[in-house]
Amino acid sequence: MVVLWALALALAAGLASAYPPNIVLIFADDLGYGDLGSYGHPTSTTPNLDQLATAGLRFTDFYVPVSLCTPSRAALLTGRLPVRSGLYPGVLEPGSRGGLPLEEVTLAEILAAQGYLTGMAGKWHLGVGPEGTFLPPHQGFHRFLGIPYSHDQGPCQNLTCFPPATPCHGICDQGLVPVPLLANLSVEAQPPWLPGLEARYVAFAHDLMVDAHRQGRPFFLYYASHFSGQNFAGHSGRGPFGDSLMELDSAVGALMTAVGDLGLLKDTLVIFTADNGPETMRMSRGGCSGPLRCGKGTTFEGGVREPALAFWPGHITPGVTHELASSLDILPTLAALAGAPLPNVTLDGFDLSPLLLGKGKSPRQTMFFYPTFPDEIRGVFAVRSGKYKAHFFTQGSVHSDTTADPACHASSPLTAHEPPLLFDLSEDPGENYNLVGSGAEVTPQALEAMKQLQLLKAQFDASMTFSPSQMARGEDAALQMCCQPSCSPWPTCCHCPGPLR
Ligand SMILES: *[C@@H]1O[C@H](CO)[C@@H](O)[C@H](O)[C@H]1NC(C)=O
Ligand SMILES: *[C@@H]1O[C@H](CO)[C@@H](O)[C@H](O)[C@H]1NC(C)=O
Ligand SMILES: *[C@@H]1O[C@H](CO)[C@@H](O)[C@H](O)[C@H]1NC(C)=O
Repeated sequence: MVVLWALALALAAGLASAYPPNIVLIFADDLGYGDLGSYGHPTSTTPNLDQLATAGLRFTDFYVPVSLCTPSRAALLTGRLPVRSGLYPGVLEPGSRGGLPLEEVTLAEILAAQGYLTGMAGKWHLGVGPEGTFLPPHQGFHRFLGIPYSHDQGPCQNLTCFPPATPCHGICDQGLVPVPLLANLSVEAQPPWLPGLEARYVAFAHDLMVDAHRQGRPFFLYYASHFSGQNFAGHSGRGPFGDSLMELDSAVGALMTAVGDLGLLKDTLVIFTADNGPETMRMSRGGCSGPLRCGKGTTFEGGVREPALAFWPGHITPGVTHELASSLDILPTLAALAGAPLPNVTLDGFDLSPLLLGKGKSPRQTMFFYPTFPDEIRGVFAVRSGKYKAHFFTQGSVHSDTTADPACHASSPLTAHEPPLLFDLSEDPGENYNLVGSGAEVTPQALEAMKQLQLLKAQFDASMTFSPSQMARGEDAALQMCCQPSCSPWPTCCHCPGPLR
């Protein structure tokens, strides 16, 4: 498979680029550790992402702090655990009163203050609120084109295919307004034709890059793909999920071509990762966590460990790193690379720029994992330090149903573990062999690691203060965005076909 944009690299000027770099941050939806060809999937077709992996830095131990869309996206954009910003429990709904509080400092705000032209395409899921208070244009993004929440948070019949109208697969929410496509703060189509979205997002990204280049300023593109279209139906050899993944990969190729056409490959840092592990309840239509245990909604590795790639020719040496890293680290890292001051708040991320630039190790020693329904009494469910991970509580999730392991399923109740389950992730990334379980030959090293993890949890929980929950503010159906305000019969009257198809 020839990846054409990569050939442009050979032609790019050899001069060292000027700081700060342009930034393309690609965030996939429900993508597992085992989904990309470069992470070992036997039948995925992901040549563009694999090229980023080959020519960039590929992380093996990269984590999100919570295995669910809304909290994971909040962590990415703020560098803070979502309990600090109030984005718990669960996810925001189309009529939620709450959202990412405006006083939180986002990555887009930090970069906009440094002169970047900032834009976001795709799935937001950090709140709408009254008059669209919480939408991206109020959170540091100069431009926004996308859906304000998940595309399955509305009736999805007839949305994915045209023609003929075919019903959606899996579950989606009924009795809500059809999902809106927003251009900045206005509804452009409701519902949009989903297979047309990826091309719109790529065109939006292209315009952002061209305009920034013309204005002589760097750009920040946050590309939050839904990858749900059907444009590659039957093409991947891996069924519908593989086809969607192929569409995402092709969009990545188009973004890289746009960067290359502007001669900016050496001036652009591209980061790729995903919000949480696979939704295995969708069976072969969901993703794959590879060798890791369970998937979305759990604090097992399959829920929280993600593929992650960093590509910046001339600056990042190609390779593989086993250093500990997290989506929480992206804000401090990009702030450092852009020469921006950090916000005056408690951050949970670390500056990984020395690791990226080959000048040092990751400063991150530990990773703390909250469940999707956290509380201050139980605190974090799992802690990783070095190669060891302890589970103090475990709970299955509906998102991880249908896997072979019943511990992943919704039927597996909240269970406290005293002593905690303890795994050596270097020898046992699949979390199969509890080092302190009955029947294990408990070593002094394991006991020492367990004590250290217990202490880390106790100290961490004692130091953490939850912000009031944004989800607890409840919902108001009238806050659902409608292209024809106060029409009837609600909500089906909120129907405004766009210019697509
Ligand atoms: C959003 O607003 C910006 C600034 O006014 C404008 O350039 C852009 O075209 C608008 N629409 C979209 C989809 O970004
Ligand atoms: C889906 O399409 C069928 C056939 O065109 C139509 O009867 C039905 O109302 C559509 N459903 C929705 C939710 O739009
Ligand atoms: C940072 O915030 C703290 C507490 O909110 C405040 O006391 C301090 O003055 C702030 N520092 C700066 C440099 O703004």
